[in-house]
Amino acid sequence: MAVFYSHSEEETYLWAKEYAKGLKKGDVVCLDGPMGAGKTVLAKGMIAGMGYTDDVTSPTYAYVNEYGDVFHFDCYRIESEGQAYGLGLADYFERGGICLIEWSQNIVTLLPKDVKRVRITGSGETREIEF
Ligand SMILES: Nc1ncnc2c1ncn2[C@@H]1O[C@H](COP(=O)(O)OP(=O)(O)OP(=O)(O)O)[C@@H](O)[C@H]1O
Ligand SMILES: [Mg+2]
Repeated sequence: MAVFYSHSEEETYLWAKEYAKGLKKGDVVCLDGPMGAGKTVLAKGMIAGMGYTDDVTSPTYAYVNEYGDVFHFDCYRIESEGQAYGLGLADYFERGGICLIEWSQNIVTLLPKDVKRVRITGSGETREIEF
């Protein structure tokens, strides 16, 4: 486990952009950490690092936003794993793309065995990113 200390949103974004260069198709990355810690900032950086420049926003209605073969999940509002399964979220893991998942604890039983984890915590402008 390694740690990166970020001192701003921009630093977090740029770190994530660089981190994404090490990702390959089929990877599932759980973005862990409490509310407001910077999971979406990490996702935005990673999506940019994989070459997608579209406007990245938190998935709201659909739970998953697609950028080419990159899938950004926000499972905060998932109420049960049965609901998640019914919504077809497990299907994304079979598509050979790269999945970035916020609030993956809400879909634990749907996750593949091997996942990467990036955990962001902290307050003020300082964040600890464990990966
Ligand atoms: N070093 C930092 N890294 C990332 N974000 C930071 C940092 N310092 C301050 N922030 C602020 O923290 C907030 C992080 O918001 P973000 O939406 O990424 O959090 P989140 O973990 O996705 O929240 P949620 O659980 O609601 O999805 C932003 O407002 C951002 O500007
Ligand atoms: Mg978020």
